[in-house]
Amino acid sequence: MLMSNVLFLDTKASVKSTLLPFLSANLPTEGWALVKIEPSVKIESDMLVICTLAGTDLGENFGYHTLDATGSNDILALHTEGISNDSRIIPYFALGCIKPSSSGGETRLFDGRKAAAAIDAIPGLNDVIIEYSALANPQARIRYPLVVTEGERVVRYRSKVETNFIIKSGKFSEDEVYQHVDAIIQSCLLVSHKWEAGDLLFVNNLITLHDRLPFTGHRRMLRVRYDDTLNARIRY
Ligand SMILES: [Fe+2]
Repeated sequence: MLMSNVLFLDTKASVKSTLLPFLSANLPTEGWALVKIEPSVKIESDMLVICTLAGTDLGENFGYHTLDATGSNDILALHTEGISNDSRIIPYFALGCIKPSSSGGETRLFDGRKAAAAIDAIPGLNDVIIEYSALANPQARIRYPLVVTEGERVVRYRSKVETNFIIKSGKFSEDEVYQHVDAIIQSCLLVSHKWEAGDLLFVNNLITLHDRLPFTGHRRMLRVRYDDTLNARIRY
């Protein structure tokens, strides 16, 4: 892991003057930035304070959830966070580890710019269009080509799940689309993060994709999404 992407944060220090320069130095280019705080009984509120301060640069509002889960044999499908939001994706999000799993559960981040270049290099692949929705909000649907231009060429994608619908697969079969794109993105690994309590991983969702490896045991995570059109609990 690149140490320049990691900030050991003392919450008694001037969080704002330390945190915001660290995030703005890493998120636009590296795509991620890891903050580590000392775990304590108030770990959850410490993380929310940090996410609130960070949000002055990352969005106009945020929503958060704590996520409890016990074991999973599956790899969580590779995705752009909030891909099924029917207005736009979430620009930034953060994952905090309150209690790590017994084993596994790494979050992997992939470079959506490098993957876009590889997809653009395969004739016909960037003609593919997929429609995304979510079981929780099935009437909301949105379509993306595999690669969009938002300042630069970047991938918008979610691996095959039942709420994906391929609108246009071009000269490829649907299985070939997913095989090609999954393989390309997995060759663009930025980091595989092994969680420890007190880790707070900030992610630039505009230029990265992510998944999660299988894990054992109970874990408790905090998830904060900035400018989430579906869940804006705190406004600045
Ligand atoms: Fe996610």
